[in-house]
Amino acid sequence: MINPAEYRQRREQLMAKIGSGTAVFRSAPMAVMHNDVEYAYRQDSDFLYLTGFNEASAVAVFAPHHEEHKFVLFVQPKDPEKETWHGYRAGVEGAKEIYGADEAYPINELDEKLPKYLEKAERIYYHLGRDRVFNETLLKHWQRLMATYPKRGTGPTAIEDSNLILHPMRLVKSETELELMRKAADISVDAHNHAMEFAKPGRYEYEIQAEIEHIFRLRGGNGPAYPSIVASGRNSCILHYIENNRQLQDGDLLLIDAGCAYGYYNADITRTFPVGGKFTPEQKTIYELVLEAQLQAIAEVKPGNPYSKVHETAVRVLVKGLMDLGLLCGDIEEIIKEEKYKPFYMHRTGHWLGLDVHDVGVYQYGENPQLLQPGQVLTVEPGIYISPEIKSVEGQPEVDQKWRGIGIRIEDDVLVTPDGHQVLTAAVPKSVESLEW
Ligand code: GLY
Ligand code: MN
Ligand code: MN
Repeated sequence: MINPAEYRQRREQLMAKIGSGTAVFRSAPMAVMHNDVEYAYRQDSDFLYLTGFNEASAVAVFAPHHEEHKFVLFVQPKDPEKETWHGYRAGVEGAKEIYGADEAYPINELDEKLPKYLEKAERIYYHLGRDRVFNETLLKHWQRLMATYPKRGTGPTAIEDSNLILHPMRLVKSETELELMRKAADISVDAHNHAMEFAKPGRYEYEIQAEIEHIFRLRGGNGPAYPSIVASGRNSCILHYIENNRQLQDGDLLLIDAGCAYGYYNADITRTFPVGGKFTPEQKTIYELVLEAQLQAIAEVKPGNPYSKVHETAVRVLVKGLMDLGLLCGDIEEIIKEEKYKPFYMHRTGHWLGLDVHDVGVYQYGENPQLLQPGQVLTVEPGIYISPEIKSVEGQPEVDQKWRGIGIRIEDDVLVTPDGHQVLTAAVPKSVESLEW
C-alpha cells in the first residue's frame, strides 16, 4: 500500500507547482444504487492520490503560500450514532494525525474557513468538470473574493484546471504504484487463466463472470475494475456487453474483458478464445490478424516513441489484413486517413491505466505527440468486430456471411521501461496453439 511518506511527497510536488495558488479537491460523492441504497464508496482518484483519505463529504485544500496550513482537510466529524450506521470516520483529529493535514475542520465549517485559504492566492486550481454541486460552492467563494478584491488587492483572479498540474504526475507511476499494478495484473491473469479452463460449451456467461470475480475478491482485490464483459458468439461484437446471460455453444468464440482493482489500481485484460477448443478457419484468420496487430503495436511501446504510434501501427496491420481478405478495398493510405476501417475497428488501440481504468494523462499535445516515458502504463487492445448486422458501405465489398458475428479483442497492460516495455499481463496465453486443445 502507499505509505504516508509517499502521499506527503506527492503533495509537496503538487505544492511546488502551484506556488502562489491554492488548489481545491472535492471527494467523490456517494452514488445511489436505488432509493436510499448506495453503491460501495469509491473515492475520487485525484483526491485519493493526494490524501489516501477514503471518505465522502471531504474537501482538501493546498495552500503552499500559507504560513502554517499548507494542507487542510475538511471532513465529516466523529459521530458515534452515524458511525454505527455508516462506518468509522477519521474525524477532525484523525485527518491530522493519520492523514497528515496541517489543519482540519468539520465539513460544515467550509464556507466559514475556506476564504482564508483563497484570499491571498493568485489563482485557484480546481477542476470544474466533475461535481456541479461543489462547482457552485467554489464559484460562490470566488465571486465573493473578487467582489472584495478592491479592499484587499489580493485574491485569485483566475481558476486554472488542476488536471494540468496533477495528471502529469499521476501518469508516471512510482515503484510503489507499480507494485500495486503488478498485483492487480497478477490476480487478473490468474482469473483469466482459470476462466479459460472453466469455459466450456453449456456454461453460461454469468458463471464465468462469477468465477473471475470470485478470484478477484478471494485474492484481496477490491473487486472488478469495471463491469466484466463475458461475451460469447455474436455478443463479442458488442464492445460493452455486460448482460452476460447467454449459454456458450460449441463453435463460439468467447471474449472476456475483465480486470481487478488492487489497492485501487486497475488491471484491464481481454482474451478471446474458442470455447470448444478449436477455431473455425474464419475465426482463426481474424484472430491471427488481431494478434499480429497487437504484437506489432506492443513492439512500438518504448521511451521516446509517440503514443500515437501504437494505434497507428495496429491500424495499419488491421487494414492491410482486412484488405488481403477482401473485406476492405481501395487505397490503403486513404482507408487509414478517412478511417474507412471503422465498421470493423471503431475504438482506439488503448488508454493509460492506473487509479482510473481509463487513466488520466494527455495523449497528444495538438500537433505535438505525447512521447512515451518509463513509468507510464498503457493498454494495447486492438480488435475486429464483424457485426452480424454489419451494413454495407458504399464503395466497399459486401461482407460475406461467413465472417459475420466474429468479434475479437486482445488486450494487455504494458509498462514503459527504460529499455522498452514489459507486458504486465503476459502470462495469459494468446497464441493460437495455446488456446486450442
Ligand atoms: N475494459 C475497458 C477497456 O478495455 O477499455
Ligand atoms: Mn478492457
Ligand atoms: Mn482497456
